[in-house]
Amino acid sequence: MDFKDYIRVIPDFPQEGISFKDITTLMQNGPVYQQSINELKKMVEHLQIDVIAGPEARGFVVGAPLAYALGVAFVPIRKAGKLPYKTIQADYALEYGQDSLAMHADAITEGQNVLIADDLLATGGTIATSIHLIRQLGGNVVGTAFMIELQDLNGRAKLPDVDVFTLTQYPF
Ligand code: PRP
Ligand code: MG
Repeated sequence: MDFKDYIRVIPDFPQEGISFKDITTLMQNGPVYQQSINELKKMVEHLQIDVIAGPEARGFVVGAPLAYALGVAFVPIRKAGKLPYKTIQADYALEYGQDSLAMHADAITEGQNVLIADDLLATGGTIATSIHLIRQLGGNVVGTAFMIELQDLNGRAKLPDVDVFTLTQYPF
């Protein structure tokens, strides 16, 4: 299956020059959404994973079903100010804009193997920041998994020491 047939591409959103890859159309098709998660599962199930961490918001709709499919834990990485308990926090630059991500201080325990899941790898800023937070908590990042990779933005360069698994790649 070519998942690109189900991903809607919107030019100049949220600002001029950005070609937005919209996975809501993929998720509106139940069997296709299920297959996308199953394919990601096949790519990562050889890894020793204790926990999947997903960055808000789109990382939740990839990471949580993947965690369920693998029978492992899921922890949220949230935009700063949303988590109720003690947190650690880091600032980062996005493809568009700037933000802060946070995790609960007890979300990961020392030595746990963590896979990070998100919808999209663009500049890699979100995932590099997520890796930073997880390592700060003593987690061991065993890989990263995405539905979409924007190869032109070379996000992999920001992740030199982790494996990257992607379902679809743009522009080719
Ligand atoms: C988008 C996308 C990825 C990130 C990729 O999230 O869901 O998380 O950008 O960009 P990067 O590789 O350049 O960091 P966004 O921050 O727009 O928020 P959302 O998931 O809440 O929509
Ligand atoms: Mg996101």
